[in-house]
Amino acid sequence: MNGRGLILVLSGPNLNLLGEREPAIYGTQTLDDHVATASEAATATGFTIEHRQTNHEGDLVEAVQGARGRAVAIIVNAGALSHTSWSLHDALAAFDGVVVEVHLSNPAAREPFRHTSVIAPVAAGCIAGFGGLGYRLAVEAVDQLIAGSTGS
Ligand code: DQA
Repeated sequence: MNGRGLILVLSGPNLNLLGEREPAIYGTQTLDDHVATASEAATATGFTIEHRQTNHEGDLVEAVQGARGRAVAIIVNAGALSHTSWSLHDALAAFDGVVVEVHLSNPAAREPFRHTSVIAPVAAGCIAGFGGLGYRLAVEAVDQLIAGSTGS
């Protein structure tokens, strides 16, 4: 692996519909746009991005397992599974790199079922409510956290 390592950007259910899906809430940018934002920030800081989107909980778990020993960080927007998936929680708990949770919208300002994230306890932090900017901020958070932990 060149540079500072691989960041897995993981996208959960319905995020493939971004751009068309409830644009008043999620904006008009597509998932490809957000991955491009993350990639630009990663290139600027010496990381490489790999992106995976799936609508299936088990595939998210397997993607996290597959990142073990390979990726230095995971930036995860698990969509509605953020609020329900203990199997994703456990998979992320077994990942030894940095985990940053991202949401385009601000779940705390929406329906009560969105107020709890079950992956929040195994993330270093959460960036929510800033739309696509969140993906750049998430890469910057990874950059800072890894710089801090390596002392560079
Ligand atoms: C979301 C927020 C979730 O509550 C929702 O189910 C999504 C998208 C966001 O990015 O704002 O699918 O994760």
